[in-house]
Amino acid sequence: VNEDDGSQRVLEAHQWLAKLYHHLLVNTTEGKDALDYLTERGFTRETIDTFQMGYAPDKPGVVATFLEKKGFHPQEMVKAGLLTATEGGDYLDRFRGRIIFPLRNHLGKTVAFAGRTLGEGQPKYLNSPETSIFHKGKLLYNFDLARGFIRKQSTIVLFEGYADVISAYQSDIKNSIATMGTSVTPAQAELMNRYAEKVIICYDGDQPGIEASVKTAKELQKAGIHVYIARVPNQQDPDDFIKAEGPDRFRREVLETSEPFVGYLMRYYRNQFNLQSEGDRFDYIEMILREVAKLERAVEREYYLQELSKEFSISLESLNEEMEKWRPKQK
Ligand code: UTP
Ligand code: MN
Ligand code: MN
Ligand code: MN
Ligand code: MN
Repeated sequence: VNEDDGSQRVLEAHQWLAKLYHHLLVNTTEGKDALDYLTERGFTRETIDTFQMGYAPDKPGVVATFLEKKGFHPQEMVKAGLLTATEGGDYLDRFRGRIIFPLRNHLGKTVAFAGRTLGEGQPKYLNSPETSIFHKGKLLYNFDLARGFIRKQSTIVLFEGYADVISAYQSDIKNSIATMGTSVTPAQAELMNRYAEKVIICYDGDQPGIEASVKTAKELQKAGIHVYIARVPNQQDPDDFIKAEGPDRFRREVLETSEPFVGYLMRYYRNQFNLQSEGDRFDYIEMILREVAKLERAVEREYYLQELSKEFSISLESLNEEMEKWRPKQK
């Protein structure tokens, strides 16, 4: 962090505002509907405190009035992404009438906010813009609290949403993190690889979640991570499942039944190709061989080649020869 670019001030403003939003949620009548909403969703008071969830009231001047008293100028608040400047020269709070999820860096400092509507308004989540202290392609949500557990288990459970992470954490699945939405950058993959051998992708069970799982898996695999995919049934997301079926069933039926990425892909692509057609069949086999080629462990490669060999009555030698063409060059 550059000492002179105001980052330290931007950081301080975020710590103050996180405190205010949390106070408004838990201690005031203004925050009552928001607190009821969170409680009805099953978040305990301890969880609400741990994640410093908050509430941004739907009235003008909340941020400016509070932060001015702490010695900040409106221009600094704009730079911090906390106010937006109108053409008429006024300042508006970025977050109004929203539940606040502070986004913390790896040291536990709040560097941005995500604000969720209480009802059906759009967008559902409004996030802070990129600032001198917030780069969304680098942040892993909840990494500060999860890090020790991730290191110990050498495993990460990667979710799509903040609510999923919080719900899992509350259920004692503490190696839980998320990115901001479903795209994972090479920087985030690198960071995960530094702390864990294995990542279980546990995205939403809907179609977008399934497609994003495959995309994310490929990015993580490039970083050398052993990737597993968990499936949440019935279009639910992990938070829905935990709330409906309980943490024990989530562990047993979702996390513990997660499967290695290639096996998952074999089933996934099977539905996208017409395996009755010869051309499609060869495309399918090539697609799978390219993925098998990326696997680090020889036993794993052999295992999938055997599967293909049995299914399509092709010799192991030919499959192996074809697969070798796709093997990454040794570093
Ligand atoms: P989801 O739509 O699955 O939301 O988006 P969710 O996490 O299940 O939220 P709840 O349970 O309805 O409260 C997954 C993630 O995508 C990003 C957020 O990071 C969210 O957690 N997202 C989604 C946005 O940034 N903006 C949006 O409008 C929607
Ligand atoms: Mn508190
Ligand atoms: Mn989703
Ligand atoms: Mn979801
Ligand atoms: Mn959800």
